Amino acid sequence: MSKIKLAMVGCGGMGGTHMRRFQTLRERVELTAAVDVVREKAEAVTDQFPGATVATDFHEVLDDVDAVLLALPHHLHFSVAQACLEAGKHVLLEKPMANYEVACKELIQTAEAKKRVLMIAYCMRFHPLVMRMKELLDQKTYGDVFQVSIWTEQLTRYPEDHWASSKERLGGGQLFSHGCHYIDLLLWFLGRPIKGMHMGTNLGTPWMEREGTSNVTLEFENGRLGYHFGTWGARGSRLRYAIHAHCTEGMIEADITNGRLVYIHRGEETVLLDAESGKHTENEMAHFLDCIETGQQPLTDGIGSLQGLRVIWKLYEAENEGRIADLTGLGLDEV
Ligand SMILES: NC(=O)c1ccc[n+]([C@@H]2O[C@H](COP(=O)([O-])OP(=O)(O)OC[C@H]3O[C@@H](n4cnc5c(N)ncnc54)[C@H](O)[C@@H]3O)[C@@H](O)[C@H]2O)c1
Repeated sequence: MSKIKLAMVGCGGMGGTHMRRFQTLRERVELTAAVDVVREKAEAVTDQFPGATVATDFHEVLDDVDAVLLALPHHLHFSVAQACLEAGKHVLLEKPMANYEVACKELIQTAEAKKRVLMIAYCMRFHPLVMRMKELLDQKTYGDVFQVSIWTEQLTRYPEDHWASSKERLGGGQLFSHGCHYIDLLLWFLGRPIKGMHMGTNLGTPWMEREGTSNVTLEFENGRLGYHFGTWGARGSRLRYAIHAHCTEGMIEADITNGRLVYIHRGEETVLLDAESGKHTENEMAHFLDCIETGQQPLTDGIGSLQGLRVIWKLYEAENEGRIADLTGLGLDEV
């Protein structure tokens, strides 16, 4: 099979991460173009991929590619992804899909009409520790799961004129921008939510227009509970990035920071899996290529991703109105 030709659009922080993890896929995909409004950033990518074209406008490269990887400011996700899908390109779009529901729906419809893959880059779903945890929970290896808690503690501060410092361009606060990964994981692990609440603050992160610190509690149909604490204001941390799944026969910990999956039962610890720490975007890209080649629906497709964002929008709305959010009708298997 000939290699899939891909353009990297948006060569900033996350674009760079993708490119560093890309090397293992060179047999299957060819980076044909790197695009950034700041030409030097696109050139920095093509330094690693000699022969790839540099451009500052993505329209210029669309004729030469089969697919695009978009790592752009959130307020540009919709317009650029829509133009690429309209041009008949497969799209791997960084999270969150788009800042408004109507835009997400339009992207889903365009991908369907054009019969092109639209996949959202929820890289945590492709992390080996998270994938193994999901298998263990589904197989009830340690009994029934009744609580999953997720901590993401980091210090993230963008310059004042950066797009991510604006609530409008970011699409919300920490929960929308970063917590979307973990709402997606909670729905994946625990099923359909019925109610939930969010409490956020920007005390500690005054550079954020909306919350820089989030606490989310969700209750699911089967009585299970999910929790996410995320902050961009951590000046120190012990847990950093960790997922704890409490089951009736013990606890499974995915220590994302140190790359280890551990089973803990009454003080005894068993290491289940080690994995290199960092983002395993090479697995995500491999899945995107599989979907293009076989026509299968991505694990992180537009419909499921929209469900996760709907949960966040409902949580924000209920928080503003001082009530618990009704989340019935949401879940990755709903439409
Ligand atoms: N999956 C993850 O863990 C993760 C982590 C960080 C960021 N992200 C996501 O990646 C995306 C980008 O975030 P980032 O942190 O890399 O931001 P960034 O600001 O570092 O990079 C964005 C890049 O897009 C370029 N750009 C802006 N407008 C453009 C246009 N019209 N055409 C081409 N290039 C343009 C900018 O010059 C910049 O280089 C966001 O969706 C973000 O949520 C994902």
